[in-house]
Amino acid sequence: MVLFLIGFMGCGKSSIGRQLARRLGYGFVDMDTDIEREAGMTVTEIFARKGEPYFRECEREALRRYAVLDNTVVATGGGVPCGEGNMETMNGYGVTVYFKMSPEKLAMRLYHGRDKRPLLRGKNDDELLEFIRERLLQREPYYGMARLVIDCDGVSDEYIAEHVIRYMENCKS
Ligand code: S3P
Repeated sequence: MVLFLIGFMGCGKSSIGRQLARRLGYGFVDMDTDIEREAGMTVTEIFARKGEPYFRECEREALRRYAVLDNTVVATGGGVPCGEGNMETMNGYGVTVYFKMSPEKLAMRLYHGRDKRPLLRGKNDDELLEFIRERLLQREPYYGMARLVIDCDGVSDEYIAEHVIRYMENCKS
């Protein structure tokens, strides 16, 4: 089974994904890192040199590569579910889990790492929160197509991982 973790930047897909993969004995793929390896550039460089539409095409291609995977946790980039047909693709190959978090909580978690993410670079604190609120509103309909939605405000990473593992056990039985 392939487990696709989806949600906004900063919601914990990569860190919880690694934890989940360890506990399940699964492989782990961080989609941004995978795209960077394929392109020979960082995500920031791809945005700067080739533009966002090219990056979104890289995401679509990466998803196609994952069709052959099994027993793997994939931490997707925050914009992947909004690409045309991408939610259908992920729900077709595997199980999608949405880590849902409020804009305020996301902003707190993103304050420090914002310069690493091209869409957040250069924003002050107010602009960051406003950007998250707007984007989240646009993205919610896609994120909401996930098989499992976990409300992640105020709960620990361990609780979230446990929730996913219990859900997967139920899927098998
Ligand atoms: C993006 C999220 C980032 C990365 C890129 C664009 C987005 O991934 O793919 O900067 O559009 O939300 P993370 O969600 O892993 O930060």
